[in-house]
Amino acid sequence: MKSTLIALATLCGQSVAQTLYAASYAGSVHSLALSKANGTLGLSTQSLSTECGTSPSWLMLDGDNKILYCLNEAIGASNGSITSFNTQGNGSLDAINTLTVPGGPVMSAMYSAPGVHNHKFFAVAHYETSIVTTYAVDPIRGHFKLIQTFTYNMSAPGPNAERQDAPHPHGVTVDPTGRFVLVPDLGADLVRIFHINPTTGHLEPIDPYVAAPGSGPRHGVFWTPKGSHGTDANVYFFLVHELNNLLSGFRVSYTEGRIHFSKFFEESSFGNSTAPSGSKVAEIAISPENNHIVVSNRLDNTFGRKNDSLAVFSCADISGASFTGVQFLGLYPAYGSSVRNFDITGRLGLMGVALEQSQKVAVVQWNKATGRPGKLWAEKELDGDIPAVAWAL
Ligand SMILES: *[C@@H]1O[C@H](CO)[C@@H](O)[C@H](O)[C@H]1NC(C)=O
Ligand SMILES: *[C@@H]1O[C@H](CO)[C@@H](O)[C@H](O)[C@H]1NC(C)=O
Ligand SMILES: *[C@@H]1O[C@H](CO)[C@@H](O)[C@H](O)[C@H]1NC(C)=O
Ligand SMILES: *[C@@H]1O[C@H](CO)[C@@H](O)[C@H](O)[C@H]1NC(C)=O
Ligand SMILES: *[C@@H]1O[C@H](CO)[C@@H](O)[C@H](O)[C@H]1NC(C)=O
Ligand SMILES: *[C@@H]1O[C@H](CO)[C@@H](O)[C@H](O)[C@H]1NC(C)=O
Repeated sequence: MKSTLIALATLCGQSVAQTLYAASYAGSVHSLALSKANGTLGLSTQSLSTECGTSPSWLMLDGDNKILYCLNEAIGASNGSITSFNTQGNGSLDAINTLTVPGGPVMSAMYSAPGVHNHKFFAVAHYETSIVTTYAVDPIRGHFKLIQTFTYNMSAPGPNAERQDAPHPHGVTVDPTGRFVLVPDLGADLVRIFHINPTTGHLEPIDPYVAAPGSGPRHGVFWTPKGSHGTDANVYFFLVHELNNLLSGFRVSYTEGRIHFSKFFEESSFGNSTAPSGSKVAEIAISPENNHIVVSNRLDNTFGRKNDSLAVFSCADISGASFTGVQFLGLYPAYGSSVRNFDITGRLGLMGVALEQSQKVAVVQWNKATGRPGKLWAEKELDGDIPAVAWAL
């Protein structure tokens, strides 16, 4: 609490606005400035770009190179697109490169290959078209080109016939050793797994992790002890399932070019209560302190009508260095409806929250001492459903 106020006072004292990017299905990417006016924090639009396309769904910021990659889901159209932007200190976004891609891109993540210099890669999950694509990217200039396309099909619908009519790749997560890419597939009840070829950077499919029928895996995140990045000891993986609202935890081990998952935990994103009817888990992240797992619930109305929840689970000691097992700590207000995505900055003690159906963005206190969300600091209604947010670093 105290450190949050100090961080905010510093932010405002220097009259330096902190930028939060927000993607809107109205066809815009907003650069919002968090700053203090008349003694209260507020969000104001610094600039707005329409160059990502009709339905911006995901924002991937490369903070080192100050380049923002925006996926356009292009709802209702046959093709999607990806656009890279140079980010400016004043919030303006200058488009660099746009590529037409298969329809329905919803999440991406970057990776590298030790044998490939000057280039990085990113993979994209295309929900609507059952496709995973990969790109080679010049990270300095923000130019990228398609290198691989994986198309999936199913012989019959899954148990949830309406949502599982076809494979629906929904997430992309890179493992902490940088050797594997995981793609949770909501339609096929799989986590598709790819080995990153170390000399070419190309993805090589290996055996998937098979999730429970009808569970609908959506997004996943890895935990490793603080300060141990790149090692393969004490690695854990957490996966949220949109269709049954379960959080699963796995011990991860590695052998000869393979990654293995051993499930040790499974609980509702509502702890020991059952999920309210109609609720759908969405996002998952490890807290900046590296000791909690944060999960967003959508359409659960836990805190009143159109006031959904964020669930917090503990997974490590306060130093973030020792794994402790997983325990549900409680539900916290999201201050609006349908949190599809959020971004927490430990440095400022702030959580940016994409409240999709409230068509607004909230900035919520991130209490570093308790490792939980707190008060609502600021909010702003925008022009459409808000699927994603990202803090400028
Ligand atoms: C500050 O408050 C005054 C009085 O309520 C109001 O007239 C003014 O518009 C406010 N300024 C800002 C930047 O919100
Ligand atoms: C923002 O900064 C960029 C780069 O310095 C500049 O080209 C642009 O004109 C600025 N935009 C506004 C609205 O001030
Ligand atoms: C655009 O969509 C069509 C129809 O789904 C598809 O065949 C084509 O490959 C897509 N174009 C690109 C560049 O992905
Ligand atoms: C679906 O996958 C099967 C097995 O890989 C393949 O034989 C078939 O041609 C595919 N169908 C389509 C429509 O891509
Ligand atoms: C359910 O969780 C609550 C809050 O953590 C706890 O107080 C309660 O004892 C638990 N009930 C059961 C049956 O485990
Ligand atoms: C949501 O619930 C919290 C906690 O009860 C409350 O402080 C807040 O005002 C509510 N917000 C909305 C938008 O309903």
